Amino acid sequence: MDRQIIVTGGAGYIGSHTVIELLKEGYEPIIIDDFRNSKPFILDRITEISGETPIHYSVDCTDEEAMMAIFEKHPNLLGIIHFAADKAVGESVTNPLKYYQNNVGSMAVVLKGMAKYNLEHLVFSSSCTVYGEPDQAEVTEDSPVREANSPYGHTKIICEKMIRDVFASGAAIKGTLLRYFNPIGAHPSARLGELPQGIPNNLVPYITQTAKGIREQLTVFGDDYDTPDGTNIRDYIHVVDLARAHVLALNWSLNQSQTFYEAFNLGTGKGSSVLEIINTFEKVNQLKLNYQIGERRAGDVVQIYANGNKAKEVLGWECEYDISAALKHSWEWEKGLE
Ligand code: WQD
Repeated sequence: MDRQIIVTGGAGYIGSHTVIELLKEGYEPIIIDDFRNSKPFILDRITEISGETPIHYSVDCTDEEAMMAIFEKHPNLLGIIHFAADKAVGESVTNPLKYYQNNVGSMAVVLKGMAKYNLEHLVFSSSCTVYGEPDQAEVTEDSPVREANSPYGHTKIICEKMIRDVFASGAAIKGTLLRYFNPIGAHPSARLGELPQGIPNNLVPYITQTAKGIREQLTVFGDDYDTPDGTNIRDYIHVVDLARAHVLALNWSLNQSQTFYEAFNLGTGKGSSVLEIINTFEKVNQLKLNYQIGERRAGDVVQIYANGNKAKEVLGWECEYDISAALKHSWEWEKGLE
């Protein structure tokens, strides 16, 4: 059976780790990535780690003509794993149109391409942000999708609805939505990891850059929340565990006879506070981090973590790494960056 699968954003943080896991599973990933949120050397690292060099197209996923030409060129594609999107929550607030143009625009092109070239399988990179501020901290896939806290989050909700509506129209689509919680960590080889562009929005890359001296000091955005230590709680999941979930989701999709539209939470099922992350980072890497407690950040959810039973039962997915391993791998990766 042909095993070719398009991976948009395949040079990105989660995309590149997923390409590694797809190759290990015997798939043939074809990467579409214009490096707007990555760098070409990531492809060399994929080759270094896997021993293989996937086909790569440097194309903007909103460029309909260029995307169709790729689908035309590869008539035996199984489908698409769609990562390509802008993802900086703060930037999306100041520049919403960039996010709608890219994240929603590329989703439309992907769905049009699937219809035109009869591609069945779609695995979409979604996010726990679709739950907004949940009533309970632990969310299942049936927890209500809420008004998100940012245009970035709105684009994820809109993309999920686009897939649902295409499915509801009777299209022959097998649509899997993977709702990530907080991806952290790096490849155990320390040769692949996150490449935040500019000042990191997310906690862990800001921590590693502070430890390396790139950033002067980490600010904890508030310690007066209604949580045990006053800081926000999140479900931090190792990027390699997340990558393996994509392979299991694709395997599962290929085994389904009927069309479907299914969401899966991808989280460890355990919540960790900001201070727990900081303390664990210091402990596993035997260093002291320079941080201060500052003001709350607008839009932050107080606490959220996954009920991950569905992915475990349906996809057979289990996390292999805990936050200690993830924070060790993140630091090893950061130390290796120029
Ligand atoms: C985590 C916690 C901050 C930075 C977002 C998206 C989600 C996903 C991951 C994109 C919060 C605190 C952070 C800092 C801090 N998508 N923090 N100081 O906001 O949970 O999720 O990013 O990649 O879809 O919504 O992640 O890492 O920004 O924040 O105190 O310098 O760390 O307040 O409590 P978030 P985050």
